Amino acid sequence: MLSLIPLLLIAPDGALTPDRLTCEYRVNPVGINVSKPRLGWIVTSGKDDERQTAYQIRVATSEAGLAKADVWDSGVVKSDATVGVEYGGPSPTNGQRLYWNVTVWDAAGKQSAPSRAAYWEEGIDKGAWRSQWISKQSIAAPLFRKDFSVHRRVVRARLYATAKGLYRATIDGQPIGSGELTPGWTDFRKRIQYQTYDVTSFLKRGDHTIGLKVAPGWYSGHVAFANEIYGTYPLAMASLRVTYADGTTETIGTDASWQAASGAIQSSDLLMGEEFDARKEQRGWDRPGFKGQGWRMADATPDGDELLVGEQGPMVEKLMELKVQKVTEPKPGTYVCDLGQNMVGWARLRVSGEAGTKVQLRFAEVLNKDGSLYTTNLRKAKATDTYVLSGEGNETFEPSFTFHGFRYVEVTGYPGKFAPSAITGEVVGSNVPRTGTFACSDSMVNQLQHNIEWGMRGNYVDIPTDCPQRDERLGWMGDAETFAPTAAFIGNIDGFMTKWLRDVDEAQTADGSFTDVSPNVLGPDGAPAWGDAGVIVPWDVFVAYGDTQLLAQNYPAMKMWVDRIDRYNPNHLWQQHRGNDYGDWLNVHDETPKELIATAFYANSVRLVAESAKALGLTDDAKRYDALNSAIKDAYIHKFVVNTGSKPTMRGDSQTSYILTIAFDMSNVKNEPNGGRELTQVFGDRLAELIAKRNDHLSAGFVGVGRLMGALTATGHADVAYKLLLQKTYPGWLYPITQGATTIWERWDGYRDDKGFQDPGMNSFNHYAMGAVGDWMYSSLAGIALDPSQPGYKHFVLAPQLGGPITWASAKLSTVHGDIESSWHKTGKHVTWDVVVPANTKATIILPDQRYDAHIAGGHHHFVFDIR
Ligand code: BGC
Repeated sequence: MLSLIPLLLIAPDGALTPDRLTCEYRVNPVGINVSKPRLGWIVTSGKDDERQTAYQIRVATSEAGLAKADVWDSGVVKSDATVGVEYGGPSPTNGQRLYWNVTVWDAAGKQSAPSRAAYWEEGIDKGAWRSQWISKQSIAAPLFRKDFSVHRRVVRARLYATAKGLYRATIDGQPIGSGELTPGWTDFRKRIQYQTYDVTSFLKRGDHTIGLKVAPGWYSGHVAFANEIYGTYPLAMASLRVTYADGTTETIGTDASWQAASGAIQSSDLLMGEEFDARKEQRGWDRPGFKGQGWRMADATPDGDELLVGEQGPMVEKLMELKVQKVTEPKPGTYVCDLGQNMVGWARLRVSGEAGTKVQLRFAEVLNKDGSLYTTNLRKAKATDTYVLSGEGNETFEPSFTFHGFRYVEVTGYPGKFAPSAITGEVVGSNVPRTGTFACSDSMVNQLQHNIEWGMRGNYVDIPTDCPQRDERLGWMGDAETFAPTAAFIGNIDGFMTKWLRDVDEAQTADGSFTDVSPNVLGPDGAPAWGDAGVIVPWDVFVAYGDTQLLAQNYPAMKMWVDRIDRYNPNHLWQQHRGNDYGDWLNVHDETPKELIATAFYANSVRLVAESAKALGLTDDAKRYDALNSAIKDAYIHKFVVNTGSKPTMRGDSQTSYILTIAFDMSNVKNEPNGGRELTQVFGDRLAELIAKRNDHLSAGFVGVGRLMGALTATGHADVAYKLLLQKTYPGWLYPITQGATTIWERWDGYRDDKGFQDPGMNSFNHYAMGAVGDWMYSSLAGIALDPSQPGYKHFVLAPQLGGPITWASAKLSTVHGDIESSWHKTGKHVTWDVVVPANTKATIILPDQRYDAHIAGGHHHFVFDIR
């Protein structure tokens, strides 16, 4: 019997309140280069079913000026929009900071108090830098310094800084900002990011020094299979803009008057590691009054054609520290520290001893049976840091310009008695705002979720990478595409992807081809599924956050990609120009015909272009691409469906052939009745059968794995999805966990007791692609699912799949419209389910077995029912 009792929470007299203001999807961003930034807020209410009926935005040059709105007043706008609301005032001037707040009206027309003030700050144009690139070619990691004096009261000071390479900046010896690996990775020939630092508080009257420490990084160090891709030595550029109380301004830019010298860093490379000789440290080099040896004038070169842009995504930062869990000594004097977690970043070393003592740190994800580091899978990445002691008391070292992927740190050459506190793991990655939490009654599934999150943490390092440890670490597009929906649950990836999608678009060839990796350092032609990321990821980000502008920005490139495929393949099957054509990469002895994969992805990309056109109001395009999508599907069904047996099958008869056909709705063609539903069901049943034939194991590779669970669930086989999720033997998600995995492995059999390590030529233990099941865990197991027709969770679907032995699941998701929750508990057949729907949004509730389907509005709701 079904009993349904929605319990409404008793609301305090909660009026509708605007909160969590964002600009360009970030909190108080500084140094952005957007003339009409998009503003957003969420509204909360203690009352159920509350909504916003109007808003008013005020923008001013100071917080105090908000009441008068001396820059822009939107007036009262009748709208329920709270996301992507474009600023409509005059373009901010160079470096200008604008303050804003918002007032909202509820359903009854009651006005809220104005929100707390927020701000954004414009970056500066290239011309305003008044700086040149400075360098010292003969020095691997040069130091640059500039002394200056302040004689009047400073009311505002900003340091803008960037590098062709990596940089760290200091003022009077104090590090500024929390960024690591700045300015990040872009195609340095075309576009370089810069960071903006508010340094007002540093500049009291008196003498000061700006210091810049620079290293090769992505610019001139090892990247993937190459070295010196963009240049042969690093350069830096900075501009300090000071505004005095009397209204005058001063700019101090990098030029040939800056001094340069070498410091303690003897060499530094992202893949190879860093060598630091503390005896060579120039103490006080970045403080006023320093008089050192060997300083020369910097070499200065005028600035070139590259575009300088304010940082667009979240910074790479230190995210947390990990303590050593265990130390072993497989050989005398060789200490192996276990941090208990495969992580990305570096180790901080504490040591004291005689000057000249050399301590070496090596890094690995896994160990050999004898307890020594297994590093063969790092290929050419040496991942080794060395520290030479100055001999002056307690010394601390951490590298500045490298990162490693590791769980184990091997320490050799350590003087004296080694204690676990000598090593600390510094976890580093893009500081993507956390949005999702997930937990359920199965501890191994929770560990899987943990591993997925750590996969994202370690591989979202300024760009989405394939892996963080070996000599690769590239923005592989196929991996990014597969994982994006999962990532969009764990964190708000709008800013992160806004930046990366610009890398993607910039890498696109004149012919319209996206590439396999972005920034592109490999060949020009993108393979099916890999190149398609240029269409899929903007769409995924749009539906998760309602970011129409991002979609509009990417739309021309998306169109070029599908138009190119169309041009070369007039028969609607993607046969020509498939680049490296990886197929269903890393499938388990279950190949899918490559032409089938390509054509399915082609159809899907065309569909997404059509959907994007609709979202952007481009009706003619929408019609054209809808028609093209139908033509591709017709050709696909005609070519790849085999009708010789009792039931239709797909060519190749692989798991992925069915997954893609279902996920991309390929059966929905003119000649099939009911939108192809019967045929889709036949394929879903066949997929379930194939899985059963493998004793409840999956065999899909990168291309199928992210859509596998969705395809099963959509065709009524959630029970099979649960069997796969909970499968502990190879190949399956929990198998690596039985082997102690703390991240997602590149291969299902990265290590097997019977076979040992997989081929070291390609065996990463931190590759997030196979972790794409995270999407299903949030959307189906816990039951918080998007409605692409109302992006940003303005409307969404709550439909948990109760299955298998799991007795409870709970997920929370902080969306751009507010916080959603779904928690269910099952005792025998009895289920309780609690959901939270944000104010000003609506949800469709679907109970298991589709027995109840209703729309609910903002508030807490409690359901009690029995399942069959
Ligand atoms: C990467 C993958 C990538 C692939 C292309 C590998 O080397 O690590 O994750 O997608 O190449 O097939």
